[in-house]
Order: sequence, then C-alpha cells, then structure tokens
Amino acid sequence: MSDAKKLFIKTYGCQMNVYDSERMAEALGAEGYEATDVMADADMILLNTCHIREKAGEKLYSDLGRMKPLKQEKPDLKIGVAGCVAQAEGAEIMRRQPMVDLVVGPQTYHRLPDLMEKVNRGEQAVDTDFPEEDKFEHLPKRISKARPSAFLTVQEGCDKFCAFCVVPYTRGAEVSRPPERLIAEARNLVERGVREITLLGQNVNAYHGEGEDGTWGLARLIWAMNDIEGLKRVRFTTSHPNDMEDALIEAHGTCDKLMPYLHLPVQSGSDKILKAMNRKHTAASYIELIDRIRAARPDLLLSGDFIVGFPGETEEDFEATLELVRTVNYGQAYSFKYSARPGTPAAEKDLVPDDVASERLQRLQALLSEQQYEAQRSMVGREVGVLFEKKGRLDGQLVGKSDYLHAVHCDAPEHMIGTVQRVRIEASVTNSLKGVLT
Ligand code: SAH
Ligand code: SF4
Ligand code: F3S
Repeated sequence: MSDAKKLFIKTYGCQMNVYDSERMAEALGAEGYEATDVMADADMILLNTCHIREKAGEKLYSDLGRMKPLKQEKPDLKIGVAGCVAQAEGAEIMRRQPMVDLVVGPQTYHRLPDLMEKVNRGEQAVDTDFPEEDKFEHLPKRISKARPSAFLTVQEGCDKFCAFCVVPYTRGAEVSRPPERLIAEARNLVERGVREITLLGQNVNAYHGEGEDGTWGLARLIWAMNDIEGLKRVRFTTSHPNDMEDALIEAHGTCDKLMPYLHLPVQSGSDKILKAMNRKHTAASYIELIDRIRAARPDLLLSGDFIVGFPGETEEDFEATLELVRTVNYGQAYSFKYSARPGTPAAEKDLVPDDVASERLQRLQALLSEQQYEAQRSMVGREVGVLFEKKGRLDGQLVGKSDYLHAVHCDAPEHMIGTVQRVRIEASVTNSLKGVLT
C-alpha cells in the first residue's frame, strides 16, 4: 500500500478547467499527492469551479456544505477552491465557508507548492493574482502516460466583453502562448500516447502567439500540429465568429488532420439582441460565414451556443433565433437561459420573466435536439474514422469518437485503443452511434 496522500479533484465548467485540473493534479503530485476517484478517501479535495451562470456558482457552496461532515470526521482534510469562482470571489469564499483552506485562481495555480506549504502550517492561503510570469513555465514536466485524446490550452482570457459574460473578468485579458512551446508540449503529449489534440482557448481563433519568426495565427499553429508525426487529429474550441480568418476557413478544406467539426457560438439570431450583447456581428454575417466554411468543408458538423431570455428579448427576437437555427442546421448545440452576472454590463437590465425564458428555452432545445438526432441518423450507413479511447460497458466493445465527435460503440480488440479505425455506422441510439469495423 502506498503512503501517498490522496487528492480528489472535482471539475466544473469548460474544457479549460479540465485541462487546468490535470495540471493542478500534476503540480500537487510533486507535493506527494496521488489522484483518487473517491471523495471520502481524500486527504485533499480541490473544487475547480465555474462562474459562467448563477447555478454554476451556487453548486460550489452546496458541495462545500456537503463536505462538512467529511471535514469533521477528518480534521486534517484540506479543502481547496480553484477556477473562476475562486478568481471572482477570492477570500469571500472563506468568509462564507471557513473550513476552506485554499483559494487559487486560474492564473496562479503554478504557485500551489508555496500555497500548500502555508496550508500545511495551518494557515489559509489565497492567491488570485494575474501574475507577470507564465504559469506554464513553472509547472512540472509532464511524464505520465496520457489518454488518446488531450486538451492543450493555447490561449487564455478574452478581450471581447460580451455584455453577459464574466470570462473577461475571471480569466483576464487575452494571452496567447508562444507557438514553439505549444509544439513542444504537443510532441510531449504524442510521446505519451496522445493521438488527438484539442487546442483550447476562451477565444481560441483569436490566437496570436509570438513565435521566433513573428506572430502566428491559429491556422499556422494547426498546420504545425498537422506536421507532428504520430498525431492523428487536431480540433480547436471555442471560436468567435469575428475571428474566423480566411486561412483558418481554408484549413478546414485542406488540412488532413483538422477534423470536420466546428463549435461557433452565435448566442442569438436577432440583430437587436446581438447588438445589445455586444457581439459585433449580425445574424446575416454569421450565416454568410457559415456558408463560406461549408464551401471549404461541405460535411462539416456545426455546433453552437445560444442564450435565451437576454434582457429586452421579445417573442419576435426569439423567433429570429429559431429561424437562424433552421437556416444553419446544427449537428450539436448548447443552449442556456440568460443568467445575470454581477459586474457585467447586462446585469443592470430588466429581466425577461422567468416563465417566458423557460418556455423559450424548451422550444429552442426541442428544435436543436431534432437537428442533433437528424445529424446522428444521417451517419447511419456511412464509414467514418473512429479514435478508440476506452473499453465499453459490454464485453469486447470499445468506445471512441468519430471524426464528427459522435460517440461510437463498436466490437473491437483492446489493442485498438489509441488507434483510429474505419468504422461503418449501423445504428443511431440516444446519445451515440453503433458501428462495425470495416
Ligand atoms: N468563449 C466562448 C464561451 C464562453 S462561455 C465563446 O465566446 O463562445 C460558454 C457559453 O456560456 C457562451 O457561449 C454562452 O452561450 C453561455 N453564457 C455565457 N455567459 C452567460 C450568461 N450570463 N447567462 C447564460 N449563458 C451564458
Ligand atoms: Fe465571453 Fe464573449 Fe469572450 Fe466568449 S467572446 S468568453 S462569450 S466575452
Ligand atoms: Fe466557467 Fe471559467 Fe470556463 S467561468 S466556462 S470555467 S472560463
């Protein structure tokens, strides 16, 4: 039995938090912690939080409440809060829940060793700076075997200031990591078994990394990833419509490893609401952009984000959103009821009545689900690439992701985990596809 201390991390929010959680686990690994999936076994619990909607923040406090008995039973248990709620609320979290030992923001978790030293002395530690130094340069080198599909954060923060959004405040200004370091990190991932890399950023297509030979855009970075031997697939998320440069659109048609899937949030189909949201594009310019991308890659599967019930949204505005969805036809989408976030420009405005917003959300989700199921059904009979990621629940079955990011179940030998295989899709079930090796 190992005498390592046990670390339990719970991750909320976006993929950037998933990436950060992995890096924090590694940073704490150097402090003698090893990961556990069982909260009750933990010597340290770290909650990596999200602040994007009201419910996301509330979840933190209800989870902390449920941890009270654990802490009473095991007074040495350390409790940490990381991520965007940590950034936004800082020491306030400790005032609401004094049993919290550590609060660390998304830009300072490379300082975890120092912070833990403080915690181990019995003090509370808070660090929510936006430091000058690059945290990625201060994190432990990554050595352990990795899963076939990995995230790689290439850009953080956002300068767009959509009127509803906390990200520019919790993650700070846009910063891009230098391309040479990203290529080195990608190579390291591939050596450790990774076959698919998803480049991450709050505004990933605004990537502008300072390379040794000038500034790189996202398209150039994708092409550099394409050249990495052993890497099979590249994806990126999340993009803003105004940053879809020509070279990036073109890459969707010409870059072999770039997968035919694009998440391109539009939020609303009403120009009045888009203006109030400070999105700086119109419904028509978005649709025209989609047409250009589909001309480059006709089989692209499109994904989007929508907010209903933004202040001032009328039935007519909402109808315009439904109309845009019908025109674009999404293969996948996320939709949310507007949630007023303190400190954002829209927070002061009058809300759409909750029952109206809820009813609109239901109508929008019904339409989006219909499109999603149709996109899945249209895969039946087609042959797609599948990257097998793990064993399925049934004996002899593996689960993986298709080129279009659909989950696919398939009978296949275990040694195919971590490889891309050709699979013929035979059926579409609720949230996945079933196929056979060709
Ligand atoms: N950077 C990405 C994602 C931001 S957060 C982008 O620009 O698209 C993910 C999604 O959460 C957003 O696209 C938006 O649809 C939703 N969201 C953000 N703030 C919200 C709020 N205050 N209320 C409801 N949904 C929100
Ligand atoms: Fe938020 Fe808008 Fe920036 Fe996306 S582009 S992170 S929605 S402010
Ligand atoms: Fe949430 Fe922060 Fe991501 S607010 S969506 S975890 S950037």
